[in-house]
Parts: sequence; structure tokens; C-alpha cells
Amino acid sequence: MAVRYRKELDTISPYVPGKPIDDVKRELGLDHVIKLASNENPFGFSSSVKEAVMKALDNVNLYPDGNATLLKAKIAAKYGVTPEMVLPTCGSDEMVDLIAKTFIDPGSQVVMAEVTFPRYFSTSKMMGAELKIVPMNNMAFDLEGFKRVITPETRLVWLCNPNNPTGTFFTRDQLIDLLEHISPETLVVYDEAYYEFATHPEYPKDSLDFLKKYKNMLVMKTLSKAYGIAGLRIGFTIGDATLLGLINRIRNPFNVTLITQAAAMAALDDDEFLIKIIENNHAGKHYLYEEFEKMGIEFVKTEANHIAFSAGKDATAVFNGLLKEGVIIRPIGGENYKTWLRVSIGTMEENQEFIRALKKVLA
Ligand SMILES: Cc1ncc(COP(=O)(O)O)c(C=O)c1O
Repeated sequence: MAVRYRKELDTISPYVPGKPIDDVKRELGLDHVIKLASNENPFGFSSSVKEAVMKALDNVNLYPDGNATLLKAKIAAKYGVTPEMVLPTCGSDEMVDLIAKTFIDPGSQVVMAEVTFPRYFSTSKMMGAELKIVPMNNMAFDLEGFKRVITPETRLVWLCNPNNPTGTFFTRDQLIDLLEHISPETLVVYDEAYYEFATHPEYPKDSLDFLKKYKNMLVMKTLSKAYGIAGLRIGFTIGDATLLGLINRIRNPFNVTLITQAAAMAALDDDEFLIKIIENNHAGKHYLYEEFEKMGIEFVKTEANHIAFSAGKDATAVFNGLLKEGVIIRPIGGENYKTWLRVSIGTMEENQEFIRALKKVLA
């Protein structure tokens, strides 16, 4: 007889991360492999992070500050909120998980987009949610579609702006219109993991101001993307202290390591690094747009650090062909997107290498 487990697990597949470089080198006998699969920062991270990490290493015999007091204070000062409105986690991945555990009951109605960050789906499913999936509108969020399925009964709405993996965004006005439509008893999770890359004038750069009016909204941020410290695992969420207090009841007491707390403080101070990253991302994205256009490839304009494109043929075959050329990207997945892939914007050399490999694979 087999051990019994939660029936919800039958509806969930493990998260498939971007393939690691070493695996591809070993499996395909390649010396040189580039990874443009996980929306990582190709330019590394602020040099001040290394210093902070080295210094923090001296104290790893101690537990970290479970309240992350200094880090919360730094985040609060940077973003103009109070420390009680900040909750750091082991990547925003952990927060997605904690939010699902805190707010979703079996049978709760949860609304999300068809093509978005897959952890919203799996964590909601894990808690037994009844998911309402809103189809995309030209690869972007259909917020009118969201409004049609959201009811006062809806427990939680997952929003991602700019969206992963499509790179699309919705405007400040659209966000306000949606928030106005949603009951104050429904939690709105607004994930802006790619916020720093968004430059469109209509993108809601002032999303944190919305928290004053919409107490049912949580804003999730991460240092894994523009700040480039994905390996240290740090994200943070800003929102109503009462909501964060509920989440805090089930948080692992030492979820953010001592080294990571120190690194995050240093990273958040380096605005110059961030400016360089955003400029490089901009240049990389326009290079890729031009190359895609020359090749007649359908793509979606992005406000993030990745671009979704249709290879015009089976995405898995293209993905495997690119692997053989030493370039790791990833298919978008899903029944309706069989020819679609997502490439992270890399250094200019990496972008050029990707285009060379893509031309070869599609030839
Ligand atoms: C939209 C979105 N949210 C959250 C995450 C998780 O980020 P973190 O590294 O902070 O866990 C990702 C990572 O790819 C993401 O794309």
C-alpha cells in the first residue's frame, strides 16, 4: 500500500527551470554554452554586493535577523513606505507560495492570465483553488476579460506587469480601472519583478502610491532581475501591514539568510549599476527587434528583459536545435503557443550569438 498524499498534487507538475549551462555542456559535449533562459542579469551585479557578502561571511555562525530589521528599514526608506509595510522573502518565489497558503481555501476562486508566471498556477492549485484562467489578447493581459470573470466572491487575482514570459505590460489607467472593479475583500497580487526595465510612459511607475487607496493590493518585487542577485534569493513585498502580518505567521523564521540580507542592502544602494543595466537592456532589445524583423520573425514588444517570439515551427524542435548550438532559451509552453519561445536579453555578444544560432536552426 502506498503512502497517501494531498490529491491536489495530481494536478501539479514540478517547476521546470531554465536548463543549467553545465548540464548542456555535459550532455552535448560542448565547451561554450550561453544561457538566455531565466531572465537573469547578464551583466552580473553591483561590485558592492561582493564586499558586503565577504564581510557578512564572518558572522555565519549566527542566525540571521529573523525580522530583517535593517533591510526592511532600507527598503522602506527607498520606497517611501513604513518598515511594517515590507516583508522580505527567499526570492519572490517564496512569497507566491506564502500568499497562496495564507489566502486560498479549497474551492476559493482565483483569477490569473493564461500565459504568465507559472508559480501562480501551481501554488493556487496546491491550495485547492478553483482557477479562472483569462485568455491572452495578442499575448497581453486582457483586463476586460479579467473584469468579466472577477466577482465579489473572488479570493485572489494574480497580476504580473510587465508580464513573464510575454514581456507585455498594461497601463496605469488600465490598472486603476481594474482595481476600481475589484471588491476590497479580494486580494490583488501585483508582481512587478521586471519593473526596473519598463520605460513606457504609460507603465505604472507609481504603483506603490496605489497602496494608499487599495489596501487589498500587495506589490511584489525582486532583486533577481535588474539587481542581478538571483543566486542569493531575495524578493520583498510591500503592502498593508495587516495582510503582511497574516503572511508573517507562516513564514519560516529565518527565510532570508544573513549573507543575503547584507547583499540586498548593498545592491539597493547602487543606483548607478541599475542605470547601466537598463541602458544595456534597451540596446539589446532593439538589436533583437531589428534582427527579428529582418528575419521576418513574429515577436512581441517587451517592457521587460526578455522577448517572446514565434519561430514559425515547433518550439521544442527549435529549443533543441539551439541547445546543440550552445544557446539555451525556453519554449513558452501551452497548447496555444506551440511555436512560441522566450529569449532573455543578454550581453550584445550573447544576443549576436543567439541570432547566429537561430538563423542556423531555422535554415
Ligand atoms: C514574474 C515573476 N515573479 C517572480 C519570480 C521569482 O523571482 P525570485 O527570483 O525573486 O524568486 C520570477 C522569476 O522568474 C518572475 O518572472
